[in-house]
Amino acid sequence: MGFAYGEDSQEVSRKVQALPHEGYGQTWAKTILIGEHSVVYGHPALALPLHSLKMQAWATPIASGQQAQLEALDYSGSLEESGGTFGGLKRAVEVTLNFLHHPQQAFNIRTQSDFPAGRGLGSSAAASGAVIRAILDAYDVEVSREQLLDLTNQAEKITHGHPSGLDAATTSGLKPVRLAAGSMSTIQPQGDAYLVIADTGVVGSTKEAVEGVRSRFQEDPTGVGQLMDSLGEQSEAAIRDLENGQMESLGHRMNEAQVLLNALQIGHPKLDLLVETARSCGALGAKLTGGGLGGCVLALASTKEDADRISKALRSDGAQQVWLHQMVA
Ligand code: PMV
Repeated sequence: MGFAYGEDSQEVSRKVQALPHEGYGQTWAKTILIGEHSVVYGHPALALPLHSLKMQAWATPIASGQQAQLEALDYSGSLEESGGTFGGLKRAVEVTLNFLHHPQQAFNIRTQSDFPAGRGLGSSAAASGAVIRAILDAYDVEVSREQLLDLTNQAEKITHGHPSGLDAATTSGLKPVRLAAGSMSTIQPQGDAYLVIADTGVVGSTKEAVEGVRSRFQEDPTGVGQLMDSLGEQSEAAIRDLENGQMESLGHRMNEAQVLLNALQIGHPKLDLLVETARSCGALGAKLTGGGLGGCVLALASTKEDADRISKALRSDGAQQVWLHQMVA
């Protein structure tokens, strides 16, 4: 049984001093429904947790003097020397052990994911969050949501530099998260619809996309500023549509957002192809999701039958993987 960190400090120090056991943590993928890129300039964005695409982590304590190992994606080796893509995970272990006042305890870490990395599905935040939860679990410590997000964002800084916090919140939260001008809240969607998420198989660098948009903004503040304002308006209205169950209107706004995102030059021919496939098979709307330059397409379908048909067509047009998500149960 766990307990809340900070509720009873004597209990906490007694428990945290106990020897850790193997710990387990779970988070999930996320998708940005609308508002990517314009959110960087203060406009609203909405991200949805994808609870069926799990990220799992195990933390196994090891004796002092042994070298901690990491098994994640295609890497298997020393945690200390993992670096690069895994810098965030290494940091997640450090910040959590510091938080628990056990910086000297070492753990072998293993992660297992139902979804690919580098496709805008929140893999890095989900992996850090799952590892943090696994280490806390190893000490039977439960923390508040704010503390969990704070630890995850410390790890995300290594991976993303200036994380907005949207990924950390959505990959460990139950409800859709709205972010605007640095302020986050959850929303309650209405209506019934399906999301079809299709992976182009192209790795898109969010960092490169964000930097590209920034430099185009500097070159043409008026033109790019107008694109951002329009994206912001579509996002604001799309979030209202979702809260009111107006799925057709939401789909239309996703299509509008896709035009604007392409104008920001963060598209990719494979994204365009899959967007067209989804629309021609009856999607209410379709767009890229996340940073762009590759990654995934997100299509909105009104029924399960439509979603199944769209999925099949996306696969035959080259999507590497396709996932279905029922948006409102
Ligand atoms: O690629 P993702 O899923 O991490 O999404 C990036 C979203 C951006 O708006 C492009 C960047 C950001 O930090 O919000």
